[in-house]
Amino acid sequence: MKRLPFIFFIPIVLFSFSAGAQNKKDFIVKVNAPKAQVQPTMWGVFFEDINLGADGGIYAELIKNRSFEFTKPLMGWKILGKPLTEGDFTIMNRSNINSNNPRFLRVLLHNNIKGSAGLNNEGFRGMGIKKGLRYDFSLMYRQPVGNKKLYIELVNNNNEIIGSTSLTLGATADEWKKQSVSFTATDTALKATFNIWIEGDGLIDMDMVSLFPEDTWKKRPGGMRADMIQLLADMKPGFIRFPGGCIVEGFDLKGRYQWKKTIGPIEERQLIINRWNNEFAHRPTPDYFQTFGLGFFEYFQLAEDIGAAPLPILNCGMACQFNSAELASLDELDPYVQDALDLIEFANGDTASSWGKLRAALGHPASFNLKMMGVGNENWGPQYVERLKIFTKAIKAKYPDFKLVNSSGTDPNGERFDYLNGELWSMKADIIDEHYYRKPEWFFSNAKRYDDYPRNGSKIFCGEYAAQSDYTVSPNNKNCWLTALAEAAFMTGLERNADVVSMASYAPLFAHVDGWQWTPDLIWVNNLQSYGTPDYYVQKLFSLNKGNTVIPVTINNDVVAGQDSLYASAVIDAHTKEVIIKIVNASGKEQASSISLEGIKKLPATAILAVLKSDELYSMNSFDNPQKIVPQETLISIKGKAINFSAAPYSLTVIKVKM
Ligand code: AHR
Repeated sequence: MKRLPFIFFIPIVLFSFSAGAQNKKDFIVKVNAPKAQVQPTMWGVFFEDINLGADGGIYAELIKNRSFEFTKPLMGWKILGKPLTEGDFTIMNRSNINSNNPRFLRVLLHNNIKGSAGLNNEGFRGMGIKKGLRYDFSLMYRQPVGNKKLYIELVNNNNEIIGSTSLTLGATADEWKKQSVSFTATDTALKATFNIWIEGDGLIDMDMVSLFPEDTWKKRPGGMRADMIQLLADMKPGFIRFPGGCIVEGFDLKGRYQWKKTIGPIEERQLIINRWNNEFAHRPTPDYFQTFGLGFFEYFQLAEDIGAAPLPILNCGMACQFNSAELASLDELDPYVQDALDLIEFANGDTASSWGKLRAALGHPASFNLKMMGVGNENWGPQYVERLKIFTKAIKAKYPDFKLVNSSGTDPNGERFDYLNGELWSMKADIIDEHYYRKPEWFFSNAKRYDDYPRNGSKIFCGEYAAQSDYTVSPNNKNCWLTALAEAAFMTGLERNADVVSMASYAPLFAHVDGWQWTPDLIWVNNLQSYGTPDYYVQKLFSLNKGNTVIPVTINNDVVAGQDSLYASAVIDAHTKEVIIKIVNASGKEQASSISLEGIKKLPATAILAVLKSDELYSMNSFDNPQKIVPQETLISIKGKAINFSAAPYSLTVIKVKM
């Protein structure tokens, strides 16, 4: 997370790799020498509520601070109208009877007419509104006597109304009631805001003021932003890791992610400050909170929707070691361990079990088929090891086949890593989570990192990685073609070592262009649009072409991992009956190549080529040009015993040949 900037800038050395690029490269692919199985989980996604990933991101709620629980209760809201007297708008606190959602807004009206008392909500950096789309407004309210009338309006930048309706609220005595109304937007706006005008006399209490678009993912009311989820679904990820990231640890233990507080009725989910709110002085986000409108039930449902294995990461009794570094003492670890055990029952348990019953009551009687869980994120030191051992013993005693992901800390080398790695391998950890936020050079030169790892011990989860065009956590980091190419080169090494590496995910996943804290990120969004970076298309190409069996690919009998700036891996896909070869040309020269497939007697007449490339290493996709760097598919003809093609300068090529 917080790391020291690199002190020396290491110049890009790609160009020097291109010596000898004129000679034809003879790739040999041994189709008849299967090496390893590719796990269905191999390429996945890492989700964290960072960069407005959940609130203001995939969670489609448009109202910011809907329950007035932010530290400043009216943050995001403006009071409208006149004349107003002192005390007409007050924040009430009922923590003695509702500690999860203690605050609400009380409005006192004096025979007000429309336009004399109201509220405006600014949304998350505005609200993205689409012409012709239905919007669903709801609130919880209470009033001793009726009636009040609410006039609600969406307003664009020019203060023009682009959608409105009204709602009459009757008396509720002392009861809270929910009321909803829907209306259609008459225009599109990137940064609309929302007005509520209140007409009537006397008191009204308001809470959980909410506005959702109709077009959520799978049209679920109160659901997720469909365009963002579609980008994930399109990758067909093997797993989805959630909820992070450092968000799992929290700045302190009080701020850690507690899954039990994120399920059930949304008005009972207790909001906390998002730990990324004030993490970086250079990117402050004072209005960043976790409302948990998206909680663990929704994450499991999302995993199921996109066909990804769920991978929850739980706090292990340690807060972020870059922040407070608070520890739960060992004799107070039970509730943490119990959370892990209960989560397995919540996800998989029989509906007669208490947590399984709750899952069924929430609408999912079938198991979520949870098979693995992470204990801790980026935790390190002997304190981690002693806590991990306690978790492992308790979980394995009850669920012997359940797989645990263990942290190897923040960095892929160094003293902390060496210590933890030694401990974890000797504990026979199921899966070790390695993180690398490094310069592109690191990715190129580590394409062989796993070639010498032991084959019969723990599996590796490359749980967070992204090539950094500047130093880690620098706000100048960009998702350019160079970073994507470096990741592609490295990923050929992961694929070649699929018997050791069972999972990998780029991080972070999403960033809002007006609300990010951390860059680079896989997918960038504004309030209306989203686009995949070149890094996204690399991930997608690997994931859609993951195959199931690794086969050797060599040049001069050697694995292809940097010679003449070439990197390669190959798999067989038993379902599509294809050999799939991935070749990265990291040099600025075209490289004429021939690929021989050993073990295939007769090659078909054609092969499919998907090429992702750019001549400009620093070029990027953008909202204006989201398709600048995307894969282009062509068919090439095969003559004779080898596939002849030219690897374009700075390219990733995926070649698919029917067997
Ligand atoms: O991906 C951003 C952050 O990087 C994650 O929260 C953390 O695990 C890592 O330091």
